[in-house]
Amino acid sequence: MQQDLNKCLVGANEIKAKVKELGEQISKDYAGKDLLVIGILNGAVIFMADLIREITIPINIDFMAVSSYGATTESSGVVRILKDLDQSVENKHVLIVEDIIDSGLTLKYLVEILKSRGPASVKVCTLLDKPDRRKTEVHVDYNGFVIPDEFVVGYGLDYDEKYRHLQEIYVLKEEIYHS
Ligand code: PRP
Ligand code: MN
Ligand code: MG
Repeated sequence: MQQDLNKCLVGANEIKAKVKELGEQISKDYAGKDLLVIGILNGAVIFMADLIREITIPINIDFMAVSSYGATTESSGVVRILKDLDQSVENKHVLIVEDIIDSGLTLKYLVEILKSRGPASVKVCTLLDKPDRRKTEVHVDYNGFVIPDEFVVGYGLDYDEKYRHLQEIYVLKEEIYHS
């Protein structure tokens, strides 16, 4: 596996410190509010699990799974809900948790869908932001790291469903995804 990976882009300690900082900020911003934290499967699971344990106010959690139509590695912008929320967002403050914002198409759709359901507010928290790849404008409220346009894996992020369990974020060797 190590032979598939280039350099480590974000190390475990750096991630841990950032996740703690985000958790503290979220706890301050939502104090006294009814907060529902929504993790987007599958990529966000690791970040979500660590982030919510750094949140010190009462929250609810839920998960959504979405998939873009088509088999390409890039988002088409047409998103299908594979698993919807188990709870209502009505009058709740919603925080969408993503591992990475790339084209922004998945997020744009999610924000639209959730806003149509009558929440008190909808905000976004992502661990990684790759602004060079943006195809649509999306507002990110909490961001861990801005990263360059490289294929990254680990800490929830996959290539072909692999590498999600790695503790750090790595750049994948080009030969792996170009073969
Ligand atoms: C990845 C990532 C984000 C989305 C970002 O998910 O986890 O959800 O793509 O891309 P975008 O900004 O171009 O829409 P993916 O669809 O690969 O599913 P996964 O989370 O199960 O890996
Ligand atoms: Mn995802
Ligand atoms: Mg993926």
